[in-house]
Amino acid sequence: MADEGSKVWQRVLAQGSRITASSLRVLFDQDLTRPESFSRYLGADAAQNGLENQDLVFVDFSKQLIDQQVLDELLVLAKDLQIVEQFVEMRNGLKINLTEQQSVLHTALRADMKTSLIVDGLDVVAEVHAERQALKKFVDAVRSDKKFKKIINIGIGGSDLGPALIYEALFDTYKSEVECAFVANIDAHEIKSVLNKCIAAETLFVVCSKSFNTVETLSNARIAKQWLSEKLGVEIGNKILAEHFVVVSAYPDRAAKSGVVAANSFKIWPWVGGRYSISSAMSLAPMIAFGVDVFDEFLAGMRVVDDQMQNSAPENNLPLILGLIDVWNCSVLGYASQAFVPYAHQLKLLPSYLQQLIMESNGKSVQVDGEPTSMRTSPVVWGGVGTNVQHAFFQMLHQGTDVVPVEFIGFAQPTHNEILAHDTLVANMFAQSKALAFGRSLAELNSENADDEIIKHRVMPGNRPSTTVLASNLSARTLGSLIAMYEHRVFVQGVVFGINSFDQWGVELGKTLATEITSSLIKPSKNGESLKDSQDSQDASTRGLINWYRLHRSNR
Ligand code: F6P
Repeated sequence: MADEGSKVWQRVLAQGSRITASSLRVLFDQDLTRPESFSRYLGADAAQNGLENQDLVFVDFSKQLIDQQVLDELLVLAKDLQIVEQFVEMRNGLKINLTEQQSVLHTALRADMKTSLIVDGLDVVAEVHAERQALKKFVDAVRSDKKFKKIINIGIGGSDLGPALIYEALFDTYKSEVECAFVANIDAHEIKSVLNKCIAAETLFVVCSKSFNTVETLSNARIAKQWLSEKLGVEIGNKILAEHFVVVSAYPDRAAKSGVVAANSFKIWPWVGGRYSISSAMSLAPMIAFGVDVFDEFLAGMRVVDDQMQNSAPENNLPLILGLIDVWNCSVLGYASQAFVPYAHQLKLLPSYLQQLIMESNGKSVQVDGEPTSMRTSPVVWGGVGTNVQHAFFQMLHQGTDVVPVEFIGFAQPTHNEILAHDTLVANMFAQSKALAFGRSLAELNSENADDEIIKHRVMPGNRPSTTVLASNLSARTLGSLIAMYEHRVFVQGVVFGINSFDQWGVELGKTLATEITSSLIKPSKNGESLKDSQDSQDASTRGLINWYRLHRSNR
């Protein structure tokens, strides 16, 4: 963790004071080599790792409010905190998730078969590959059998966002004979609307839950089972139903105990965090859609970036550099939020995915040692797909009182042949980052002879940082590389903040209270009488809400 009083951190803060006296316009005028100095490739050691040219991802961070001195000091910080060494320790199975006494081994999920990694006496990589073989057999059978035309993933958080992101992102590139749908919310409107479009005999439910304790998932699985039993005309408990269910969990025994009887189940391990489980069996639905070979490509893209994070020289270590810039924006320059804007409709779920990855990992205010953090930790993560959001929140990004660093993500080659439309899409992305960085001054407007009345409203302050991620196409490899890059950036930030990025105690209290309140809501109400006496544990507002709800609760 970066000690607030340490010399290294103080030097980083001093850079913050220096750079804010400058501006992106000045920095670009002073250094004509900026675009080359502040851009790198993801998977830069690609040749060694067998990454083809078309899968390279170019990242331009020259429009960040940094210069060489800033980058140098950030890299000194990284060295001082031994960020890369700590990453290697994580990759080697050290139990860095101290509050849950767990190793953090999502990187083992894509480790090469030749790797051996013994944790608690078990070779975890061998386990992963054995499970992958079983998955392959199952996936190949489902794909060749063609009985199931619809796959419904039931899961929430990491058990939903990861597989949904892969499916949506890669659908246009790889096509699929089966259709996937994703159900997460306990609001049954969601599952009902999905089931309304399904034929029971052709539907396979993939129930994903690492813990198999998650109420949303259990509720949706129960509704799915009921629906299937009614539609197929068989009793609940009939083994025909089990053929329509697959379970993915670290605790498959809990699935059967909770009533989810599945003919097949696949495991993940307690050392895979929910939001880091995209490279596990949790992605079974997109595996069925596209085949395991495509998923293997996705994993290969991740592995290249895992290796880059571990082996690259710091000055070329893109995940490390971008993680440090995230810290710079959030904790040094004080920008409280960060927007992700893919100019690729297939990546429309990326902002939601990153919300969980970043905010559930780093939205904490207690350090590993139990002391309060001394700096701003996770930014508020948000975003949307370009160009749509240009007509929604970009006004605020350009002229609002808060500065929001933006990350643009785009591709050179679309999967369609409407090239002119694509050129316009990309032009818009470049235009936005340019407008954010350089704005438009009063002097420039005056030279345009603009209408005096409104001229001040047309000034664009500029000096708003952004990064542009540009890849040739949205392949499985590219997507894998991007996701691994974001995972490692979160790791870098967590080390600097001194927090445990791999637990999520902040979501516990709400779950416990919801269980308590649910029992109050469903108690039978006599003549609309309130439950005042039995609700003394509730605060006045919550008690009022409960009583109002009980008065108006549906009787169906
Ligand atoms: O929101 C808390 C959380 O535990 C996430 O970390 C996780 O991705 C999600 O709930 C779902 O958990 P599970 O896979 O155990 O159902």
